[in-house]
Amino acid sequence: MAHTPQHDIHTPCYVYDMHLLDTTLQAIRAATAGHENYHIHYAVKANANPIVLRRIAQAGLGADCVSGGEIRAALQAGFPAQSIVYAGVGKADWEIELGLEAGIGLFNVESIPELEIINQIAGRMRRRANICFRINPDVGAHTHANITTGLAENKFGIAMSDMEAVISAALQMDNIHFAGLHFHIGSQILDMDDFAALARRINQLQERLADEGITGVRIINVGGGLGIDYETPHQHPVPAFDTYFDTYARLLKLHPGQEVHFELGRAVVGQMGTLLTRVLYIKEGHVKRFAIVDAGMTELIRPALYGAHHHIELFGRTAGNEQLTYDVVGPICESSDVFQKDCPLPPLQRGDLLAIRSAGAYGETMASQYNCRPLPTTYTTDELNTQNPL
Ligand code: LLP
Repeated sequence: MAHTPQHDIHTPCYVYDMHLLDTTLQAIRAATAGHENYHIHYAVKANANPIVLRRIAQAGLGADCVSGGEIRAALQAGFPAQSIVYAGVGKADWEIELGLEAGIGLFNVESIPELEIINQIAGRMRRRANICFRINPDVGAHTHANITTGLAENKFGIAMSDMEAVISAALQMDNIHFAGLHFHIGSQILDMDDFAALARRINQLQERLADEGITGVRIINVGGGLGIDYETPHQHPVPAFDTYFDTYARLLKLHPGQEVHFELGRAVVGQMGTLLTRVLYIKEGHVKRFAIVDAGMTELIRPALYGAHHHIELFGRTAGNEQLTYDVVGPICESSDVFQKDCPLPPLQRGDLLAIRSAGAYGETMASQYNCRPLPTTYTTDELNTQNPL
């Protein structure tokens, strides 16, 4: 932030490191270079900031949307309609109409009643909807319970045992074109064995379909879920894309002509975002020392909602070696409005800036106006006129 004096930065704010975003996008391109049949859709829910979206669209990724609003945001940012896939258990009629009108590439369908409505609406609009069925693979992921999605008990997808029946239903519908299968097992997954388990499950399902003479599976969409290093973000600013794509390349048995689609969110934008916040007060409690900051769960809800860890550091001034421990807390009237307990930091004073790292994914998009707070300001490093990563 060489050219913007710190007192001019309005906190709390998100700062997006566009250079790191570019580096990450290049790493994805490099890791998928040998795989012509791999298609990457960026999961817009992770970060829908228009400048960020535009940059990702320019890099040639498609978009993975879960609402009409996201479809609009993706189109506005320049994602070609054909590159948009649209998932979600509860698509409203207007959202289906919007998708059909825009000519999006695929609907990921999660139930028979939904399929029937898409067929009806498409018929009325004289369109044909390309669809993949989201199949629940009953594969667990080693991640937080709230962000596991691929278990039989979750609300997502269609049971494996119903797969043949739903495909047969789709094949009989005039306004539906069956294109393939969609899966997603969860988010923030760092253990490649979880993706390996999904790949093996998909192989089994493909064999089952082949045995029953069901063809027409052109697309295998494996969803997203690749995690990032929240503990030591400086050491791993770019996720291990090579290992991730290699896992699928090694294990997934494809039939001729099949495409593999990916829906990556967090891995694309997680590390390029920092939440900058200013220390308002230092409060020496009887048992604890608190750093009360001007950001709260309204700007970044992940610690309160999932117990998620985000690395916190002093920003913009040098400090000595002395370290104290602080509970870094926000101003919201909720006991869960805590960013980190017993966080080691140099002695702080009012006005200090703290950088809360790895906040590019599911930060700004999950912000709320609770307590009548304004939504967070955002800056990109381009706007701040600096190339320096924060
Ligand atoms: N595809 C589907 C069908 C999804 O449900 C999701 C995320 C993604 C792709 C992208 O997953 P990613 O690559 O970002 O892991 N708010 C939570 C994460 C919720 C993820 C929801 N689905 C968090 O802050 O950790």
